[in-house]
Amino acid sequence: MFSKVNIKVQQEQELFNQIDPQKLPKHIAIIMDGNGRWAKKRGLPRVAGHRAGIQSVREIIETSAEIGLNYLTLYAFSAENWQRPPSEVSYLMGLVEEYVLKELETLKKNNIKFQVLGRIHGLAPSVRTKLEDARQKTSQNTGLNFNVALNYGARLELVDAFQEISKRLLDGAIQLSEINEELISQNLYTRDQPDPDLLIRTSGEFRISNFLLWQLAYAEIFVTPVLWPDFKKLHFFQAILDYQGRERRFGKVISP
Ligand code: IPE
Ligand code: IPE
Ligand code: MG
Repeated sequence: MFSKVNIKVQQEQELFNQIDPQKLPKHIAIIMDGNGRWAKKRGLPRVAGHRAGIQSVREIIETSAEIGLNYLTLYAFSAENWQRPPSEVSYLMGLVEEYVLKELETLKKNNIKFQVLGRIHGLAPSVRTKLEDARQKTSQNTGLNFNVALNYGARLELVDAFQEISKRLLDGAIQLSEINEELISQNLYTRDQPDPDLLIRTSGEFRISNFLLWQLAYAEIFVTPVLWPDFKKLHFFQAILDYQGRERRFGKVISP
């Protein structure tokens, strides 16, 4: 007789067996949404959903490293999320601090390179120093590149890039004719990283919410009704399999 756990493991294994390792996306970006609704459904405060979401974060990172994914970007806190009640914001920041402190050893052990995308200087010093420490201590790792988008807004990222490029133009370091797509990409927080091939959004919302506007130009989008705290390995594999069934055309005509 199979226990519940075994059935789950068996289902995961079946999906995993269907994944073509040659066609794995290089970069998966996830809008982790639905924590508040998850908590509400259970009659719990919203923050309980955020805490529960940490388990999904762990499982998805672990699975990404396991399957040999190159880049994973998780959207954890947008520049617009400061407009939430102060108590929720400080709880989220506390969770970030706690997560980084607790998980640093695991990240190191698993050869994961950790980075933050966003205006890190806009975060409280106690959060910032821990994030910076984790970045430094994992900077030589060569396995999964794990980005957390924190105090991130895609429009702000473009503003930062425009300012940087304009400064170099005014300094005479570059010419107007040198401003091209490559230069713009190199001035984004994701410089030197491939664009996401697959964007996953949980909780059934069909919007981008100011996430990686430039980089998602040709990403395949997968929206699942599953709320983030319920999103596990199985759902992650489903998203990858769905992606592998897509025909990516990049504006071209694919001959039959
Ligand atoms: C996602 O869950 C986490 C963050 C945006 C920080 P939400 O908190 O947005 O959950 P819902 O959308 O209200 O259910
Ligand atoms: C997007 O979720 C931001 C993160 C997941 C961190 P939101 O819940 O903030 O997005 P909207 O408000 O529904 O667009
Ligand atoms: Mg939300």
